[in-house]
Amino acid sequence: MNRLECIKTMVSKCSTAADIGTDHGYVAEMLLKDNLCEKIIATDLNEGPLNRALKHLTYEGLQDRCDFRLGNGLTVLNEGEADVIIIAGMGGELIADIIEMSKNIALKASQLILQPMTTADRLRRYLYGNGFKIIDENIVKEFYHYYFVIKVIPMQDNMVLNDEIYYEISKILLDKKDPLMYEYLKKSLKTNDNIIASIEKTGNSSYNEKIRVLKKKNNKIVELMQN
Ligand SMILES: C[S@@+](CC[C@H](N)C(=O)[O-])C[C@H]1O[C@@H](n2cnc3c(N)ncnc32)[C@H](O)[C@@H]1O
Repeated sequence: MNRLECIKTMVSKCSTAADIGTDHGYVAEMLLKDNLCEKIIATDLNEGPLNRALKHLTYEGLQDRCDFRLGNGLTVLNEGEADVIIIAGMGGELIADIIEMSKNIALKASQLILQPMTTADRLRRYLYGNGFKIIDENIVKEFYHYYFVIKVIPMQDNMVLNDEIYYEISKILLDKKDPLMYEYLKKSLKTNDNIIASIEKTGNSSYNEKIRVLKKKNNKIVELMQN
C-alpha cells in the first residue's frame, strides 16, 4: 500500500472532508471516488497547487462535489464544517502549527488524519499535550522512506504518555506488531550506530553526551522490539 492509499484507508465514512494542502488533489479524488465522503473542501496555501487540484478534479468529473479554497491551514474552514480533516505531506511541526492556529476548528472535527513527512515525534507530542488523542496509526514505505499516518480524535483533555520514547516510537504500531515497524526500528538502530561510530572516531569528548543519548535510545529500541 502506498502513502496516499494508506491515508484513504484511515478515513471513516463522512459527509464533508477537508483536504488541507491538497496540491494535485489525489487524496480528494480517492475519497470521492470511493464515496468515503459526499463532498470535499480542497484547500491550499498557494494558487499554483490549488489550480492543479481544480484542473485534475475537473478532469475526473468530480468538481461538483468539491469546494476549492485558497488560504492558510484551517483558517479557510468554518467551525464544524468538515467532519474529517486531512493534513498530509507536510512536516510534523507545520501540521502542529496549522492545528494550533485554528484549534477551535480542529476540535470540532470528528477525526483528523495527519501524515507528517518529518518530525512525527514533535507532532505526536503536540497532539497529546493539546487535547487530541491518537486512536490509530499506520506505517508505509515508499521509495526507501517510512511514513506514518496518524488518526486523531479531539478529546478536550490533555494526555501524558508514560514513557517519552512513545512520542518517537508509536506505541500503537508496536502493539500492532507491524512488520514494517520492526523494519523501521532496525533501520533506526543501524543509523544511530553509524552516527555513534563516526562521532567516536573523531575522539572529540564534547560529543560524549550525544553518544550517551543515542546509546540509551538504542537500548530502549531493542527493549521495545523484544516485548
Ligand atoms: C507536498 S504537498 C502535499 C500534497 C498532498 N497533501 C499529499 O499528501 O500528497 C504540500 C502542499 O501543502 C501546501 N501547504 C503548505 N503549507 C500550507 C498551509 N499552511 N496551508 C495550506 N496548504 C499548505 C503546499 O502549497 C503544497 O501544495
